[in-house]
Amino acid sequence: MKILAIDTSCDDTCVALLKIKNRKLEILNNIVSSQVKLHAKYGGVYPSLAKREHQKNLPIIFKKALRPLKKKQFDLIGVTTGPGLEPCLWQGVNFAKDLAKNLGKPLIPVNHIEAHILANWLPDSTLHILHSRRLFPVVSLVVSGGHTQLILMTGIGEYKLVGETRDDAAGECFDKIAKILGLSYPGGPVIDAEATKYRSCLEGGRQIPKYRIKLPRPMIYQRNYDFSFSGLKTAVLYDFRSRSSKIRKSRWYIQEMASEAQQAIIDVLISKTVKVAKKFRSRTIILGGGVAASQELRNQLKSKCLTSDIRLLVPVKNLCTDNAAMVAATAYFHKKEAIQNWQKIKADANLKI
Ligand code: KG4
Ligand code: ZN
Repeated sequence: MKILAIDTSCDDTCVALLKIKNRKLEILNNIVSSQVKLHAKYGGVYPSLAKREHQKNLPIIFKKALRPLKKKQFDLIGVTTGPGLEPCLWQGVNFAKDLAKNLGKPLIPVNHIEAHILANWLPDSTLHILHSRRLFPVVSLVVSGGHTQLILMTGIGEYKLVGETRDDAAGECFDKIAKILGLSYPGGPVIDAEATKYRSCLEGGRQIPKYRIKLPRPMIYQRNYDFSFSGLKTAVLYDFRSRSSKIRKSRWYIQEMASEAQQAIIDVLISKTVKVAKKFRSRTIILGGGVAASQELRNQLKSKCLTSDIRLLVPVKNLCTDNAAMVAATAYFHKKEAIQNWQKIKADANLKI
């Protein structure tokens, strides 16, 4: 079976082709056309611009994605219907509907958050573990630019949201902090890079100026499983404003701030995730979403899981950020729900898992 999938939930136009044989998932093509350069000057995604780009890019990327096939010989179409930016989602949904109509193929609506979780079922991940009967219950932490959610999973398709951010998502917080510090968009990878430089200077014993920045770990001691990151961004802004313009531009200040902000976010994410795993006696944690590409988060969560006797599954980095291979995998697991009546499918910016 071959599945063609489309994701236009945010600022990446993504089309992928997945082959499934004997329950083995093989990515034939996974194309991501990034709009980062376009949105960088706004320090975030500009929805109407993103929508226009999706419209322009989709037919080109669709053609490219199909190159491994002789004809349009795929069996199913998967498309992200939400959550995401509504005008962007509609571009993918309408494109998929046209395909379903013109080619007479069944269409499967896919939830973007579920796709970030099921990215762990794609090749290069620890697939043998995923088929183990003792995998569930699993605690999934989905951390992206739009979401920070803790989801209890009792099987594929069986989810219960146990905690989420009350304001900004973790990725959004990285992006806003980067903007305050004058760093580029998206903020997560640049803050990761600045923080890494800072740590290697400290580890190398280099004498560097210290600003003794201390940021809060919002809600870390609260007994719920929710997050809040907007206060953290404000704390960064206050510290930044209290410094002289010379310090604000100094690489040591920027690096120390990046390192402290990253650590604050990681501390809260790890503490709450492990708390949920213990509460629900889960022996597996699954990580997904763009922020899961952070090497520091991966390293620190891995060592915490090792000491807590919890198994950790994380997708390879290019499957953490938005892509359509994860959408194709999700469509595969929901293939029985294929909708012949494609007219009914709608985009839903606030789709819940
Ligand atoms: O999942 P994703 O590609 O798109 C959404 O569904 O939102 O996530 C994008 C987010 C951005 O906020 C970006 O700053 C963050 O993921 N991100 C990272 C890293 N790479 C991307 N955050 C921390 N470290 C990274 N290496
Ligand atoms: Zn995403």
